[in-house]
Amino acid sequence: MTVLGSSGCHRQGQLTDQQAEGKQLYDVRCAHCHEYNDLALKKVPPDLHGVFNSPTLPSGAPATDVQVARTILTGKGMMPSFAGRFTTAQMEALLAYLHTTQFAEEGKP
Ligand code: HEC
Repeated sequence: MTVLGSSGCHRQGQLTDQQAEGKQLYDVRCAHCHEYNDLALKKVPPDLHGVFNSPTLPSGAPATDVQVARTILTGKGMMPSFAGRFTTAQMEALLAYLHTTQFAEEGKP
């Protein structure tokens, strides 16, 4: 509940419906690791803020929708597989949200 409650600091009004859906999915499924590392993983989950602004992902793989979707579906290292967890529309929403730089504004210049 704290995860959802903390969304108040983002100006959600700027997101399209699809991006807002993606943000919800991100907040629930990804943020606890990628923002808070609540499992205290030794390999700290990389910051996904503005992940598509760089040509490559932290691993060096190309920062493309296909590659990120593949990472989500198959997992990577300590990251679990989300195969079967998202519908196609939900995956598209998640990617659409990760393309927004809105949530990058706080952490980046
Ligand atoms: C249990 C914690 C955990 C969860 C939940 C999680 N991740 Fe990750 N994620 C990781 C870790 C750890 C890595 C680093 C993997 C590595 O490089 O070994 C990672 C890496 C990534 C990468 C970078 C891959 C690369 O090639 O560098 C992306 C993109 C990513 N995660 C997206 C997501 C998305 C989107 C979600 C939600 C659907 C998510 N993750 C959920 C732990 C998590």
